[in-house]
Amino acid sequence: MKMSKSNWVVAGCAAAVLAINTQGVFADAAAGKGIYEGVGGCVACHGLSGQGDGPAGMALNPKPRSFVEGAYIYDTDGDGQPGTDADLVNVIKNGTTKYGGAPTMPGRADIPDADIQAIVAYIKSMKK
Ligand code: HEC
Repeated sequence: MKMSKSNWVVAGCAAAVLAINTQGVFADAAAGKGIYEGVGGCVACHGLSGQGDGPAGMALNPKPRSFVEGAYIYDTDGDGQPGTDADLVNVIKNGTTKYGGAPTMPGRADIPDADIQAIVAYIKSMKK
């Protein structure tokens, strides 16, 4: 096949998009950390290190999930796999009561979707 000039332009664009996506993964987790510790308020219960040992989390029963262990239990979309990105987004948005869990994990529907995605990237990055 003879490559026309426009084909090369398309190939170039695809490569550029890939590069942006790869960088995005890291940028997301960094942004997510800021939201987790800041406006998201997750840190109060889940703790700075994500082990469920924040000042407000210590007294709770059940304990806030440890992101270091990453043993997630809610399968919010019924695909047979708890703790997928979609499940984590749903739990953060809607809280755990909606999925039969504790009322102490508040839903945060006020946080924009892109920011919730960033938080998910961050909490997944804490898993040891
Ligand atoms: C007031 C305390 C509190 C705050 C604030 C809080 N959580 Fe939680 N979180 C909990 C508790 C308690 C659980 C365990 C609930 C259960 O097992 O039913 C939990 C569970 C979770 C889970 C586990 C879901 C699963 O499938 O196992 C995730 C993910 C999570 N929280 C993320 C977050 C994020 C992100 C934030 C900030 C936007 C946040 N939480 C803020 C108390 C809190």
